[in-house]
Amino acid sequence: MSTTMELIEDYNACVMKTYGWNPIVMVKGKGSWVWDNDGKKYLDFFPGWAVSGLGHCHPGVVKAIKKQASLLIHMPNNFMTELQPLLAKKIIQHAYPGKCFFCNSGAEANEAALKLVRKYGNLTGRYEIITMKKSFHGRTIAAITATGQEKYREGFGPLVPGFKYVEFGNIEALKNAVTEKTVAVMLEPVQGEGGINVAGKSYMESLKAICDEKNLLLIFDEIQTGMGRTGQMFAYKHFGIVPDIMTLAKTLGGGVPIGAILAGKKICDIFSPGDHASTFGGNPLACAAALAVFKFIEENDLLNKVVKQGKYLEGKLEKLKGKYGFIREIRGIGLMLGMELSISGDNIFKKCLEKGLIINCTSGNVLRFVPSMTVTKSEIKTAMKIINEVFSEISEN
Ligand SMILES: Cc1ncc(COP(=O)(O)O)c(C=O)c1O
Repeated sequence: MSTTMELIEDYNACVMKTYGWNPIVMVKGKGSWVWDNDGKKYLDFFPGWAVSGLGHCHPGVVKAIKKQASLLIHMPNNFMTELQPLLAKKIIQHAYPGKCFFCNSGAEANEAALKLVRKYGNLTGRYEIITMKKSFHGRTIAAITATGQEKYREGFGPLVPGFKYVEFGNIEALKNAVTEKTVAVMLEPVQGEGGINVAGKSYMESLKAICDEKNLLLIFDEIQTGMGRTGQMFAYKHFGIVPDIMTLAKTLGGGVPIGAILAGKKICDIFSPGDHASTFGGNPLACAAALAVFKFIEENDLLNKVVKQGKYLEGKLEKLKGKYGFIREIRGIGLMLGMELSISGDNIFKKCLEKGLIINCTSGNVLRFVPSMTVTKSEIKTAMKIINEVFSEISEN
């Protein structure tokens, strides 16, 4: 087996440095825990950037992909396979009537949604898509164009024409941005990468009313919020409105790459054969994993557990807020929580990592807590003990 130093050298020599690597080589995971090449154990409160929503190597997912791997791993989509329609039916059953398209990642799901609304809009000469400032929709060229953060777009121009950004939560800004060329509005119900920003119910209701009035399609990027993360299977359910398109990825496959869109009745038949495709999309292995994720959520009352553990974690974070003056605000829904600081969070992330806790810092000063939805009270307590230690060290300096 290679040593950690050898592996780090190989990475530096042979893998493009598109990520800010931590010099740690992970080799094994189970539930909320991961182990590095030197045997050090970490409590993962950001498992797989919200991909491993059921924890690392969830037994239900492992069993399903083992079984499927020995039957049929991949078939191209010019043939039908057994599990793809079952997964589509499962998504529809938990959401709204329509049809799915399957792909392999979040950016690809958003790409499909954007192409679908463009095709729909092209029928009536409309093409403009309004997205939100501070949003994040992925790294393909259309997804960075849709992303309302300059830092992700810089250096990649010219971008895709026809996008506009408005302030998240500001209904007047949205009204003013709509023109006769506008065809769709796209947003995350809870902005993840943008700093755990939660939309208000009245904002969402007004947004939906504007979309209905102006015949605009509403796209919800549920890539991070979907699959139970907020205590509802999909976060749009908190707001009492239904989008025209929802995009999914991350937890959908429990660690196996899969993305999906669900388009409602109005637009689900807009694509014709040949309009859009994905070689790997919705392959039997990925569908088996996703069906296992749904099965576990359904059979284990996981949504209620997310609400309960989310409240518990939120309570613990609020307690820390009472103790440390540099904590500005705790916000989020379910097990998607953010802690805004008046200081930089990067150093806190590093110190937590040293002490064996993985969290995330986004937007420079927001600590993001998105643990496995199977997280236990005792794991939450352990994480909070480490955070408290780090905070008290910081306050002393
Ligand atoms: C809300 C949201 N949309 C899209 C993406 C992109 O997903 P992927 O990295 O699978 O392309 C992410 C990833 O962090 C995300 O959080």
